[in-house]
This record gives sequence, C-alpha cells and structure tokens, in this order.
Amino acid sequence: MITVGIIGATGYTGMELVRILLKHPEAVLAYASSRKWSGQAISDVMPHLHNARDLVLAGFDAQEAVSAAELFFVCLPHGESMNISADLYGRGKKVIDLSADFRFRDPVVFRKWYGEHTQPELLSEAVYGLPELYREEIGGATLIANPGCYPVSVILALIPLLEEGLVSLDSIIADSKSGVSGAGREPKPNLHFPEVYSDFSAYSIAGTHRHIGEMEQELGRISKVDVKLTFTPHLLPVSRGILTCIYADPSDYLDEGSLVELFRERYSAEPFVTVRDLDGSLPGLKEVCGTNQCILAPRYDERTGKVVVISVLDNLVKGAAGLAVQNMNLMFGFTEDMGLNDLPLYP
Ligand SMILES: NC(=O)c1ccc[n+]([C@@H]2O[C@H](COP(=O)([O-])OP(=O)(O)OC[C@H]3O[C@@H](n4cnc5c(N)ncnc54)[C@H](OP(=O)(O)O)[C@@H]3O)[C@@H](O)[C@H]2O)c1
Repeated sequence: MITVGIIGATGYTGMELVRILLKHPEAVLAYASSRKWSGQAISDVMPHLHNARDLVLAGFDAQEAVSAAELFFVCLPHGESMNISADLYGRGKKVIDLSADFRFRDPVVFRKWYGEHTQPELLSEAVYGLPELYREEIGGATLIANPGCYPVSVILALIPLLEEGLVSLDSIIADSKSGVSGAGREPKPNLHFPEVYSDFSAYSIAGTHRHIGEMEQELGRISKVDVKLTFTPHLLPVSRGILTCIYADPSDYLDEGSLVELFRERYSAEPFVTVRDLDGSLPGLKEVCGTNQCILAPRYDERTGKVVVISVLDNLVKGAAGLAVQNMNLMFGFTEDMGLNDLPLYP
C-alpha cells in the first residue's frame, strides 16, 4: 500500500483522480488540498464522491503534505504548478504533474508557448508520462510530466505511422473536438451553458494552440527530425471526451488492410489502446467516457491517397487522471491496469 496526495483536488482532473484512487487497491488517498474549500470533507464539496467522507481538504502546506504521502498528483494551472511540484520533489517525494510545466525538454520552447520557467533545471529530470512511448523510463522516474489531453489523442494516432516512416512530416493535420471539461472548472464566459449548448466552434487555430509545441516535440522525438503539425481544436457541447481526426499523406502506396495490421501489431500489448478493424464501427465518445481507453480507427482514402485516423479518448481519464494513475502503477511496480478497468456508461 502507498500513500498519495492530490494538490488541487477540487478541479476537474483532481476530482477525477479522487474517483479513481478511492477504488485503487494499492493506494490510500491521504492528503488533498484546496484553497477555496479547505477544512471541508471531500464528500461535502463533491457530493458524487459520497464515499470520501473521511478525508478533509487542507490549504496547501508543504510540511504537512510531505508527512502525509509519498506520491503527489499536482493538478494546478500551468505556472502555478512548477514551484509546488519542485518543492515536493526537492523534499524527496515522487511527483506526477498534470500541468504543462514539465512537459518540455527545452526551456526556450517552454517560454515560447507558456512564458518563463522558474525551475528550468528540472526539465531534464522529468519523464514525459506516455507509457506507449516511455514505459521503461516512467518505471524509474520520480518526476512525471503527465501529457496534455489533445497531445495524447494526437500522438497515439500517429506513433505507428511515424515509427515506420510512412507519412510526410510536413503535411500532417490534426483536427480535434473536445468536451468543455478540457478547459477546467474555473468559470469563463465563453464556457457558460448558454454559450456552449447547441453550438460548435473552432478556437486557437492557425498554429496558436499551446499544445502544438508539446505535440511537435514528441512527434519529432519519434521521427528524429522536426515535424510541423497543423492543429485545429474545437469546442464540443459535451462535458467530456476528445475526438481527433488525423489526415496525413503517405510517402508510398498503402493498402488499408496492412495499415490496420500495422496499428494492431504496434498496440497489441498495450492495455489502454484499442484498434478498430475495418469491419468494426467507427468509435464515438460514449465508448470511452469514464474509461482509460483510447480507441483508434486507421483508414486509407483510395480516392485522395490520404491516411485518415480517428482517435477517441476521455480527456479527464486517458487524457489526464487515468493516465496519471497508469504512470503511478508503473512507478511503483503495480500491474499497469490496476484500478483502471472501468467500462463506459452507454448510451
Ligand atoms: N481538464 C482537462 O481535461 C485536463 C487534461 C489534462 C491536463 N490538464 C491540466 O491539469 C491541470 C488541472 O486542470 P483542471 O482541468 O483540473 O483545472 P481546474 O478544474 O481549473 O482546477 C484547478 C485546481 O487548482 C486549484 N487552483 C486554481 N488556481 C490555483 C492557484 N493559483 N494556486 C493554487 N491552486 C489553484 C483549484 O482549486 P482551489 O481554488 O480550491 O484551490 C482547483 O482545484 C491544468 O494544468 C490543466 O492544463 C487538464
């Protein structure tokens, strides 16, 4: 049994971690912080977690935190996370940071997308927490940079194509649609119900979304040369889930059967990536919401010669809290899927 803590437990990723960890057979949630609701029981602030009666939220105090737990999930906004994560890490604790603060290897690239980094020396120590690429390093890591939700959906859809050098690296398009919880729980006018409900729009287009830097870094590491990505995110009027559609130009002729087989082989040992066969239906968000699964459907458009890959996942689970627990399982030598085998609610 290990003891774990959550910093920022009342946000969307924090409360999803509480939900998953309460059922985890090897982890005890021993510390949970909040500024606004300090002193209140988790079950009072988040009534859907009615079985979390015994844990009281605390205003963050580093000394109190480190005496309560050995691993911390830091679920704060980027920029807020780096100092608290560095403090916990400096006091000998394992840290899984869900923000973007440790996802970049190069502080100059971090500055371009997010601003100044106050702990640049830690960037080289953090391991990018995507087990499908870095399982071994995650097992030995003490500081994990949990990936962004869009990047997980895009990178998983491209790994087999890039590892085999099958597509041009200057014309990949990722067109993603995300549920509103992807923007966090802090109220913003454009996220209010009357603005989002029954509407659908793109945002941060033409190379401006911050996740592009992270995606290009990781796609470049796979390809060993620079990759330029056209990324268009959209806001869907649903609570959770991301559907990404990738369009790429194959470097040579591809037949659809071999394409699907390539994906199946690459992910055959992965507990949380499922590949849809040609005779299977195309995946929708309801098949993954509440689960740690990413479902991929690779296809080939004979008419235009494009590879098309559909990727679906739950931004709060495989795109955040579930992936963080998968990383925790690897760091502590637990079975990788421990506590993560929930089926989706359907319909
Ligand atoms: N939402 C997603 O789908 C998703 C997916 C992957 C990664 N992420 C990343 O994960 C992190 C958390 O995201 P989220 O969606 O859970 O955000 P959120 O819903 O806005 O929650 C943020 C949490 O941090 C606390 N907080 C806010 N500002 C703070 C500050 N200045 N100092 C200390 N605590 C502060 C808030 O609680 P109190 O005010 O009570 O302290 C709250 O518990 C972000 O960096 C986000 O980019 C989010």
